[in-house]
Amino acid sequence: MIHHKNSVSIKTSDPELRNQLEAMVGSAGNLRVLAAGNKERPDLLIFELSEKFDEEFKRLQALLNSNSVGEIFLTSKNKDTDLLLKTMKTGAKAFFPQPIDPSEVSEALSSFIQRVTQAAPPGGHRSQGQIIHVMGAKGGVGTTTVSVNLARILAQKTGPGSVALVDMNSVYGEVPLFLSLKPAYHWGEISKNIKRLDTTFLMNVLTRHPSGVHILPSPAYLNGHPPATPEIMESLLNLMRKTFDYVIIDGGQSLDGSSIKSIEMSEHVLLISLLSLPCLANTNKLLRSLSNVGIVPDGRVKIIINRFLKNSDISQEEAQGSVKNNIFWRIPNDYKVTMSAINQGKALCDISPKAPITRNLTELAESLTGSEMMDFNKNKKRKGFLFFK
Ligand SMILES: Nc1ncnc2c1ncn2[C@@H]1O[C@H](COP(=O)(O)OP(=O)(O)OP(=O)(O)O)[C@@H](O)[C@H]1O
Ligand SMILES: [Mg+2]
Repeated sequence: MIHHKNSVSIKTSDPELRNQLEAMVGSAGNLRVLAAGNKERPDLLIFELSEKFDEEFKRLQALLNSNSVGEIFLTSKNKDTDLLLKTMKTGAKAFFPQPIDPSEVSEALSSFIQRVTQAAPPGGHRSQGQIIHVMGAKGGVGTTTVSVNLARILAQKTGPGSVALVDMNSVYGEVPLFLSLKPAYHWGEISKNIKRLDTTFLMNVLTRHPSGVHILPSPAYLNGHPPATPEIMESLLNLMRKTFDYVIIDGGQSLDGSSIKSIEMSEHVLLISLLSLPCLANTNKLLRSLSNVGIVPDGRVKIIINRFLKNSDISQEEAQGSVKNNIFWRIPNDYKVTMSAINQGKALCDISPKAPITRNLTELAESLTGSEMMDFNKNKKRKGFLFFK
């Protein structure tokens, strides 16, 4: 039977809370509550955490990872801040401290309805994915390492077919090497055939990594293909963000017209730098160049320090002073693991899932894709209600 209403499963051992939540779901419109024991995949799970919340977080995370549930809202009698942090990390979309406030629940339910009705039906993708442009302040700072691993981590979180990785290095792009791929096609195919570009053509050109990340590599050698223009870039990225939830661009150090277009269209621009004088000086020049073309270093442009060492000669404060901007993130130095990943042609989470650098990049991915959730920290007045669109 085809249901047109989205399904909600409520899991709590408290009958009074269950009644209260059922009534709220019922009055939200266009939602139906699944009876206890119904095995149908819920579009939304509202779950009451018990004292064994650590175990429950693991189970909930597994449900989200395997796509056995659409979204999760959590509630608890416990108002511990540790619990709130864990809620954020799990990927739950809302947290209601008890006693629950009906207006908060109904606000979260109407946003849920808005999200599911906006999602494009065929692949279950949202109507508009996020573009994350990664660029280096200098060569060799780790732009490809960050791009490849962000894409791989996001694919693990969101499922196959949801992430694309575009290599914008004009030639000699290294994305295929980092992932042991031998792509049949590259950028040139898109530039040559831009008039034919549609989803079917795009999917045929992309190379699929076993993790589900779809790759568009750059040409392996100069071969006379027409270059990517800003217009080509715009058409390509418009189509890609309709097709994928996340599009990661390895932008190298390029600031040509097509890179500027990609930067303009991105939700996040990650500027990778190191705590070294030449690198910070280049970061400064790059920020200036961007602001000369109207891209001011606002929250969208994020400075990331790679290969961070605690006992560095230059402190974070000095670096911030020198680039006149905040540092958004620091990635720890781990030459052994990053080099071993590159030499094996594997992502960090496939060879060293527990390494601090892998965990750090996973947290970076979470903070970029769940950034609305972090706004909660700025808005503590809302009684611990945690919610992100
Ligand atoms: N966090 C890190 N800790 C230690 N070494 C790192 C780290 N990130 C990257 N590296 C090392 O830096 C080198 C360059 O990395 P990568 O190829 O990703 O940089 P890039 O900026 O893309 O370089 P290019 O300018 O050649 O495209 C590699 O040997 C990699 O192992
Ligand atoms: Mg590179």
